[in-house]
Amino acid sequence: MDDRFNTIAGWVLGAGIVALGASLFTGEVFKAERPEQMGYPIEGVEVESEGGEAEQPIAFFLASADAAAGEQVFKKCAACHTADQGGATGLGPNLWATMGKPVAHVAGFAYSDALKSHGGSWDWETMSAWLKSPRDFAPGTKMTFAGLSKPEDRANLMVWLNSQGSNLPIPAPPAVDTPAELAAEIADQPAAPGKAEDEPVLNEATAPTKGEGAAADQE
Ligand code: HEC
Repeated sequence: MDDRFNTIAGWVLGAGIVALGASLFTGEVFKAERPEQMGYPIEGVEVESEGGEAEQPIAFFLASADAAAGEQVFKKCAACHTADQGGATGLGPNLWATMGKPVAHVAGFAYSDALKSHGGSWDWETMSAWLKSPRDFAPGTKMTFAGLSKPEDRANLMVWLNSQGSNLPIPAPPAVDTPAELAAEIADQPAAPGKAEDEPVLNEATAPTKGEGAAADQE
């Protein structure tokens, strides 16, 4: 009886030692290393704001937006939308007087649940976010449009859309509002090497580029 107990105890102990050894071994071999960059990089997808620099607020671009240019941008939408008063419903709802209206306001249009339940109304910020990426704004939306990545395009389009039956006031631009002023600021700044680290650095990447403001640059 005792003998048998010892044998069993021996096996159990032995098995434990083997298991422990195996786990130490595999732990050594398959050591989980945290990759430098998490996630899978997708080739050909542009990273929007490189170096973590935030985009200028949309009000910055609205200040110099051009409705005529916006009408051109709207050609990308015209496959699915009309924007004239009483215009036909396409794949998407008619967009007459949409700026300022609640999200998903067109009676009788079969909105997705994603948009119907979103809430809020179409102001400059929400419309900009929606047009930048409909999918991010309302995950599950029926609007299969990738989005307008250029803030200039969104600003131009919104100003034009605002002229189609809406009349929202254009927000005041942020304090530093033109490329010329930005350039002047840079020129005015005395070099302060000690503080350089925590000061926002104004360089080509943060300064507004080309686009509509370019004319001001040349003066
Ligand atoms: C492939 C067709 C398609 C294209 C292209 C498209 N849309 Fe849409 N749009 C839709 C659909 C469908 C909906 C309804 C979305 C839902 O219910 O989720 C919609 C909804 C909207 C809404 C919400 C309207 C409301 O009543 O709340 C706005 C604003 C809008 N689109 C603007 C645009 C603009 C501006 C463009 C061009 C930059 C554009 N869309 C391009 C199909 C499209």
